[in-house]
This record gives sequence, C-alpha cells and structure tokens, in this order.
Amino acid sequence: MTLEKPALLSNDANRSAAHLIDEMSRLYYLSRAIHVAAELGIADHVGDDTVAADELAQSAGTNPEALDRLLRFLSAYGIFEEAAPVQYRNTKLSATLRDDHPQSVRANMRRIGDFWWSAVGNLEHSIRSGESAFTAFHGVPFFRYLEEHPDIQKRFDEAMARISATNDAAIADAYDFSGFHRIVDVGGGRGGLLAQILMRVPDATGVLFDQPQVVAAATRLEQAGLSGRAEPMGGDFFKAVPDGGDCYVIKGVLHDFNDEECVTILSNCRKSMRKDAHVVVANQDLPTPIAGPHPNLTMDLQMMVLLTGRERSATQWSELFRQAGLRTINSLSTEVGFTLVDGVISEKG
Ligand SMILES: C[S@@+](CC[C@H](N)C(=O)[O-])C[C@H]1O[C@@H](n2cnc3c(N)ncnc32)[C@H](O)[C@@H]1O
Repeated sequence: MTLEKPALLSNDANRSAAHLIDEMSRLYYLSRAIHVAAELGIADHVGDDTVAADELAQSAGTNPEALDRLLRFLSAYGIFEEAAPVQYRNTKLSATLRDDHPQSVRANMRRIGDFWWSAVGNLEHSIRSGESAFTAFHGVPFFRYLEEHPDIQKRFDEAMARISATNDAAIADAYDFSGFHRIVDVGGGRGGLLAQILMRVPDATGVLFDQPQVVAAATRLEQAGLSGRAEPMGGDFFKAVPDGGDCYVIKGVLHDFNDEECVTILSNCRKSMRKDAHVVVANQDLPTPIAGPHPNLTMDLQMMVLLTGRERSATQWSELFRQAGLRTINSLSTEVGFTLVDGVISEKG
C-alpha cells in the first residue's frame, strides 16, 4: 500500500522563487519538531486514542500551550491529526514515532540530541574547510565523544541496532554466505547482522568486532541463541581486525570515514584474512544519475558534518579496494537500499 506523501510546502510558496526558497529554508523546524516529539514520547502518550493537549502535556512533562503549538504545527504535515480543537490522535506517520510500532523510528530520532544538532548547525565550518563540523564544535571526533558520554553511546548503539534490524535479514539473504567457516563482522555494532548471517549458515562461527564498550553491551547474538557460535571481540579497526576469517563483513561503517581511513581498515582486513577470503562491504551508495531528492544525498552531508566520511559510487569502491590490495569481483543490490561490494585479495596485492 502506498502512502500519500504530505505536502511539505504551502500554496503560498508557489507565489515566487523567493517565497519557495524561504519556506524550504525553514524546514529545519520540521526536522527538529519531529525529533522533539519523539524525544518526549508524544506518539506513545497518544496511543490509539484522541487525547487533549493538556493531558498529553501532563504525561510528557511539558508546557501545555507550547505542546499544543508543536502538535498543531506537526499536524499540518500529517504528523498527528488535530481531531477536534486541541485534541490530537496519531496518523500513519506519527504512529512510527511510537516505541511499539513495528517500524518504529523513535530510537533513530532520539539519538539526534542537542550534541548532534549543534554540529549540524556548524555545517558552514565543514563547507569552508572540508572538515568535520562535529569535531570542530565539540573538540573530539564523533566516536570518541560517544565513548566519553556513555548515556549518548547507549542511545546511539540502541538506535543503530533498531535501524539495522530493519535491513539485516534482507542483507543476509542477498549474499550467499554458505561455504564460509569464520565470518567476522567488522564494526558490527550489537550483532544484529551477524546473527542473521549465522542463522542462515549453521556450520559457520562468527566474530563480532567493534569497540570494547560497544561489544560489551551487544545482546543480539545471545538473544538469538547464538552465543556459542559467536565470539565478541573489542578492538580498534585502525590497528587490526581479528585474523583467520574467510569472510569479513563491513556494513554501514566505511561511509563514516575518509578514503585514507577506509584504505587502512580494508588493508587491516587484507592482512588478517585467509588467502581465499572475501571482504563484503555493505553501504548505501550515491544514486547515479542523481534525479531528485534522495536519502543517501542527505546521508552524504551527514557523514561530512559528523565524521570524516562520504557516500560513494561503485567506481570509488573499486579504487579503495585496489589501494588496499583487494579487487572487487561483484556488486549486488538489495531490496533495502544497500549495495554489497564483494572483494578478494588482488593477485598484485
Ligand atoms: C555506523 S555504525 C554501524 C554499526 C553496524 N555495522 C550497523 O550497520 O548497524 C559504525 C560502527 O563502527 C564502530 N566503530 C567506530 N570506530 C571503530 C574503531 N576504531 N574500531 C572498531 N569499531 C569502530 C562503531 O562503534 C559502530 O558500531
């Protein structure tokens, strides 16, 4: 069933180019309003009912009038509906902000706290310098900042696990992992993808490799009853990755990093892998040609602002593999927007 897209701009925006761009420039209020509604758990408080704004304000601990204005604003975009004056109910869109929605985006929105938003506000720094606005604003790189703020790290990892859960099964289905014996998930987060892969390859064992504080809280493999076949290992992929694997999966990680850093990670895989092993990189690549708004174009800016990374094309992946002594042998699309680039050790490497 297709969902009718809400209008993002008013009819007034048609009056002139100036009106149009002025309205477009204010859409940051829409973004932030969605994050704040998710943070406050408003959609959960509304539930399946129609609820008065002051009642919602009491449950969410907000100012009643301010909350009513927020919900009135969001309702204009189809996110909540003002069913009667100052009475709100959920719509298909606002329902996805509920924690209990099967495709809930709440955790994803809640990771965008003030620390993140302030870095986005520093976008000009990235454009002028080509450097991370986040690092310039906070004085430390993104992943270091998370490590120094365990509550934010926890939120980030939970969000990644929720996002990952929506595409792990499709990625595990898209590539034939049978025949591998030791599968290493490099930067594997809480282990959702590795769990899906191991469920499909009963003879294989796995290594979940990520930063120590992340693997310490990784629960997905245990929840899937796979602890006996998967070893959690903390470390730094800029120094080394676990050795002896015949498959190294790297999903949603390399777009966080610049070319030089990617080559270091890929080279560390090459140094540790068996001669006949594969490296499988899963990323949301740039659309070619670019034909209108695309979430990966937004993601590309996000990688520039928060980290040192970027989204890439198939040609750019081949070049990074080459520099790491690998060669790409295949590229597979998935139904969930990820492309899987498959590589092996290059004879020249
Ligand atoms: C964007 S998340 C992707 C997580 C997971 N692969 C997924 O798709 O949900 C990037 C992961 O890289 C890990 N990471 C970042 N720097 C690392 C490092 N130096 N060594 C090991 N893991 C690192 C992070 O902790 C995080 O789990």
